Amino acid sequence: MALLDGKVVVITGAGRGIGREEALLMAKLGAKVVVNDLGGHFDGTGQSRSPAEEVVKDIRSAGGEAVANFESVSDFKSAKRIIECALDNFGKCNIVVNNAGILRDRMIFNMSEEDWDAVVAVHLKGTFNLARHSCSYWREQHKAGNILNGRLINTSSDSGILGNAGQSNYGSAKAAVAAMAIIVDREMHRYGVTANAIAPVARTRLTIDATPQTAASMGKVTEGQWDPFGPANVAPLVAWLGSDDAKDVHGEVFRVGMGSVWLMKGWHSVGRVTKKGTVWDAAELGGKLKEELAKGATKKESMAEVMSGGI
Ligand SMILES: NC(=O)c1ccc[n+]([C@@H]2O[C@H](COP(=O)([O-])OP(=O)(O)OC[C@H]3O[C@@H](n4cnc5c(N)ncnc54)[C@H](O)[C@@H]3O)[C@@H](O)[C@H]2O)c1
Repeated sequence: MALLDGKVVVITGAGRGIGREEALLMAKLGAKVVVNDLGGHFDGTGQSRSPAEEVVKDIRSAGGEAVANFESVSDFKSAKRIIECALDNFGKCNIVVNNAGILRDRMIFNMSEEDWDAVVAVHLKGTFNLARHSCSYWREQHKAGNILNGRLINTSSDSGILGNAGQSNYGSAKAAVAAMAIIVDREMHRYGVTANAIAPVARTRLTIDATPQTAASMGKVTEGQWDPFGPANVAPLVAWLGSDDAKDVHGEVFRVGMGSVWLMKGWHSVGRVTKKGTVWDAAELGGKLKEELAKGATKKESMAEVMSGGI
């Protein structure tokens, strides 16, 4: 029996890149797949049916089951129709992978309101939209005695969990979707649902076309050899997180790519200064904080350290 036999999965932005690989692998592992993709440019403009249709064609020609959906994740009602697409075509929905994404990089002092809103709408609002509609469905089904083992997998980014200059819109949204996985997990665990987040690293158009500096650090693909930055390296983690075997893995954030999966730990206290019985003098507090910070416990890992394989 394959890992995902009998499962129905919705993957947003599955027409290209990481989502495409997730769709191909999960179909190969027995899942029926809703391949959602708006099919636009990497900055979110335009749309096309062909990316999602091509992936569905590939899945079907390999003997799998899939259906295409072209709705935008960023609209609340459209997102509901993405979940309904699974129910209408395959009778249920077990797994939702929030993967759709766009980029509009600018330094904060040049960031336009449009560039902020467009990126937040796809990554943060879009992730909320799919989470909202799938979780209300899973809760209703659970109350009716239909245990679906719901799985929510949000796609975060190093940009959100480590920080990356030029991406205040994208990184803020990506930090939020990691937090959302932890929060939704706490709310939904009683209904048999798990929520986790991944922060992938892969060679896709978001790295090749939108951030050439990142692409340069990934080197070249050598024909016939394993590509450490290939998006296929991300898919096994997502497939496993979607499976029944992963029922006890929840509220986690994983970084994934280059053949590794990193277990990430978010905000947690690493030092403390305390004064009781009276309010701190501001200058005295500053001095104590500088002493504490000098110990280095809050040093942040940089994306460059990660990309060089150093961590
Ligand atoms: N490539 C990386 O190294 C990397 C790193 C960190 C995070 N990510 C995240 O991984 C996810 C996949 O990105 P990718 O690198 O495969 O890029 P990609 O551009 O190849 O794929 C993203 C897909 O999302 C689709 N999409 C965009 N807006 C949409 C919308 N409103 N509704 C439905 N579909 C929409 C696009 O059409 C595209 O096919 C994104 O969330 C991205 O932010 C990627």
